[in-house]
Amino acid sequence: MGDLARLLKESWTLVEEHQDKVAGYFYARIFLSHPALRDLFPVHMDVQRSRLLNAIVTAVQTLDDPEKFDEYLKALGRDHKKFHVEPEHYEVVGGALIEAMRAHAGEEWGVEYDQAWADAYAVIASRMIAGADADTNPPYWYAEVVAHERRGRDLAVFTVQPMQQLEFRAGQYLSIECTKYQPRLWRTYSMANAPRRDNTLEFHVRSLGAGWVSSALVRRLQVGDMIKLAAPMGTMNLDRRSTRDAVFIAGGTGLAPVKSLLEELTRYNRTRWVHVFFGAKSRDDLYDLADLNRLAARYPWLSVVTACSEDPTFPGEQGNISDVVARYGPWNNHDFFVSGSGPMVKSTLKTLAEMQVPSVRIKYDSFTDMN
Ligand SMILES: Cc1cc2nc3c(=O)[nH]c(=O)nc-3n(C[C@H](O)[C@H](O)[C@H](O)COP(=O)(O)OP(=O)(O)OC[C@H]3O[C@@H](n4cnc5c(N)ncnc54)[C@H](O)[C@@H]3O)c2cc1C
Ligand code: HEM
Repeated sequence: MGDLARLLKESWTLVEEHQDKVAGYFYARIFLSHPALRDLFPVHMDVQRSRLLNAIVTAVQTLDDPEKFDEYLKALGRDHKKFHVEPEHYEVVGGALIEAMRAHAGEEWGVEYDQAWADAYAVIASRMIAGADADTNPPYWYAEVVAHERRGRDLAVFTVQPMQQLEFRAGQYLSIECTKYQPRLWRTYSMANAPRRDNTLEFHVRSLGAGWVSSALVRRLQVGDMIKLAAPMGTMNLDRRSTRDAVFIAGGTGLAPVKSLLEELTRYNRTRWVHVFFGAKSRDDLYDLADLNRLAARYPWLSVVTACSEDPTFPGEQGNISDVVARYGPWNNHDFFVSGSGPMVKSTLKTLAEMQVPSVRIKYDSFTDMN
């Protein structure tokens, strides 16, 4: 471990136990010295009190080699435009972070820790600012909801029409703010279509328990409402030069980016066999099966396998989708695309590793934490 990384880790252990207090102090410091910054943050800070603080601490500690994370940091800086973050805010936030830690660390805190955090933060901030500066996109796009269909209790498929051209690649995702119902809360959702001439975008959203943004998108959003969209991100794209057959593995609404990639393939593919594995707990959660079957009937290169893990009378495959994929192997020479919840992606990656699939052939997006 380098000296800087050691100092950062060592100093964090002094405050780790008091994270809540550190977070409270951090935000109080920012909002007292710069009251206008309060408007950048969500109304209910209690639900995600330490979201930004955690994000910065994780970034500073894990990105001790900023060179390696240059692209990620530039994208993060571009993405911060949606929060109305300006370059001068970085100094305020960095100062508050160090003061909050110093105030709670006790006597063991030393000047070398101040310096280590200031140095690491400055490098990261400068890359984020450079990313934002170089970006020619608007901070966000307004889009009108033009269709909204409930598919069961927890799920909605909806289409929006951005007010200005929004360019993206099939397989990407972007952050959505459900402006009318949950202002200033942004969450990421994958586009479920390839770029279209009419510029519309489709999303598949499952509401998660008391989830703030997903439940508003599923239960409250209506045709005619406006939402905000931030710049597209993500690298789960098709390589048009690849001649390998492809395997798509989706859990639940992880189907969204898979549909996007399939729509792109329908425009040019003649030579690659494409296998889709779509899994969910019960048949009601296979919310888009009719459309998948329609695609499979129309394109002879496409096959679809469905599986349920908790629906013993389901007539398709039984079990976790990763096990089903393994049963259909071997998959010696394929490109893989995996998307869904953290646990689903994690177990699929494990299965693929066991089947000796080289990791360079696998692209994935995990919707939740994989730990
Ligand atoms: C790259 C990427 C793409 C994504 N694409 C999609 C997509 O196309 N469709 C889609 O529906 N979602 C997608 N997600 C997930 C989405 O971004 C949100 O995480 C999700 O909608 C929950 O947000 P929320 O505001 O409703 O919940 P939050 O307010 O963030 O969380 C509320 C509560 O729900 C709990 N919770 C959060 N996640 C889960 C979970 N998986 N299971 C059980 N409880 C949970 C939390 O513990 C918390 O207590 C994607 C995520 C990523 C990272
Ligand atoms: C090194 C500097 C910074 C890093 C690494 C960083 C990183 C992040 C990350 C990763 C998130 C997403 C958190 C999540 O979705 O879970 C986030 C959210 C956010 N950031 Fe930053 N950020 C930095 C600086 C700033 C600055 C200077 C501001 C300006 C005030 C800012 C304002 C915000 C806001 C408003 C959110 C949303 C918070 C929320 O939803 O509660 N960030 N930041």
